[in-house]
Amino acid sequence: MEPLETIGDDIDSWTTMMFLYHSALKKVNTKLEILNDEFRHVHKYNPIEYFKSRIKTPESIVKKLKRGGYESTIANMVKYVNDIAGIRLVCSFTSDIYRLAEMIRRQNDLTVVTVKDYIKTPKESGYKSYHMLVTVPIFLSEGVVDTKVEIQIRTIAMDFWASLEHKIYYKFEGNAPDYISKELRDCASMVSMLDAKMLRLNEAVLRAKEEQADK
Ligand code: GTP
Ligand code: MG
Repeated sequence: MEPLETIGDDIDSWTTMMFLYHSALKKVNTKLEILNDEFRHVHKYNPIEYFKSRIKTPESIVKKLKRGGYESTIANMVKYVNDIAGIRLVCSFTSDIYRLAEMIRRQNDLTVVTVKDYIKTPKESGYKSYHMLVTVPIFLSEGVVDTKVEIQIRTIAMDFWASLEHKIYYKFEGNAPDYISKELRDCASMVSMLDAKMLRLNEAVLRAKEEQADK
């Protein structure tokens, strides 16, 4: 597929848009690194285990527009595709997710547009994660453009589940046999139990260390 032709509009605005998304990712990535470093400095603890970012491929931008019933134009892509720039933060405990979300919310130069808490309300598939759609201002010589970045925050266990489920979903092109979907939902509840148990264990470890220090 030739992305620039399918996208329709002129090549200049495509290049400019992609430049904006790349810049937005850079900016948010740096912010997250600083937040993580500062947190480690103050609390001797890393809330982020790792994070990765990606720009959606032209092919999947076009696919998503088609799926939504939109013509492949740059205007539609900017308006309707919210995850062209995406960052995934993976942390150890569920409590870290909300702590990170709060830290992100407090950044004055980021605007939180929407939040989807699929931890409190998991998807039908069993999927759990915390999603934030934010915009970040990108300063160009001709003005400022607020650019969208989708941030997904999840635990290592949730990430393990999501990547496996994603692979299976693609293998069956969305039509997995019922028993496989059910098994995946069972795995999702095991993931939740594991996350809850690990969190309690971590709290117990912290308490035990405090008690030792008091002695
Ligand atoms: P998309 O069209 O898939 O982007 O969904 P949306 O616009 O309704 O947004 P939503 O926040 O529900 O999902 C955005 C992203 O979350 C997806 O692109 C995936 O990365 C992830 N996601 C959502 N649902 C699932 C799921 O059931 N399984 C897995 N593995 N990932 C999911
Ligand atoms: Mg997506």
